[in-house]
Formats: sequence, C-alpha cells, structure tokens
Amino acid sequence: MVCLGNICRSPLAEGIMRHLVDEQELGWEIASAGTGDWHINEPADKRSISVARRFGYDISKQRARHFNKNYFDEFDLILVMDQSNLKDVLKLAREQEHREKVSLFLPEDLEVADPYFDERLFEPVFLQIEERCKQLIEEIKANN
Ligand code: 4NP
Repeated sequence: MVCLGNICRSPLAEGIMRHLVDEQELGWEIASAGTGDWHINEPADKRSISVARRFGYDISKQRARHFNKNYFDEFDLILVMDQSNLKDVLKLAREQEHREKVSLFLPEDLEVADPYFDERLFEPVFLQIEERCKQLIEEIKANN
C-alpha cells in the first residue's frame, strides 16, 4: 500500500488489510510505504490513528517507511493511492514484470484523496479504504 507520506492513507490501508487478512487467516504479508521520505519511522497521523480506532482497527504501532525498489521483488502487488504515487512508483520500476505489479488501489482510475490538509476527509477516506480492502480480498481470492 503506497501513498505520499505513509502517514495518512496507506497506513490505513495497511492496518485494515492486515486486520481483515488475519481474521480470515489468509497468511498474506501486508506493508505500506510512502514515495516521500519526510516521515520515515514516524507513527501514522493522529487523525488516521483516531478514525481507525473508532472503527475498531489499531494502526498505532505502524511506522512510516520510504518506498524503495526492493519492494518490487518482495511483494506481488503494489497498490497506490493516486496518480502522482503511480507516476513516482513507476519511475523506479526497471522491469516490465515490476511495472505489472503496480496499480491504483481503487478501481476505474479513481484516486483516494489526500486528507492531510483537510480534517473532514479522514472519515470518508477511511470508509472508502475499508470497503475497497474487503473487495480486494474477495478479488484476490477469486483469482488465486
Ligand atoms: P499521505 O498524506 O500521503 O496520505 O500519508 C500526506 C502526509 C504528509 C504529507 C503529504 C501527504 N506531507 O507533505 O508531509
């Protein structure tokens, strides 16, 4: 799960996805990272931690990481929150096989809006991410 800062959107996607994957005992490894390096090792934004907690998820122990090209080998699927993340991640991909692992998190070219500068977006962003995580699990299970 990839966004810009790895403190608002992708930590939500990581925490929700891991929680759901663990509930179903799927054994998938879930991680998140940011294309920017400003927040390395920081916890998620308080507003993400708080909205997640309200809906029953604990993301407080996650720490921000910077996306690097080793992830292309370590993971099967790299899901990015917006077009700008897509561009930044694809710039680091050196092989077609790596490029093929990358897609937008939402279907149909939709983007998850960056809530960093708008407090009101945290809850709708959370709900959008939670719904999509549930869909993704079903889609991935159906394709494997
Ligand atoms: P995120 O939000 O990409 O969802 O983690 C942001 C967090 C921090 C910054 C930008 C976006 N920032 O510029 O520090």
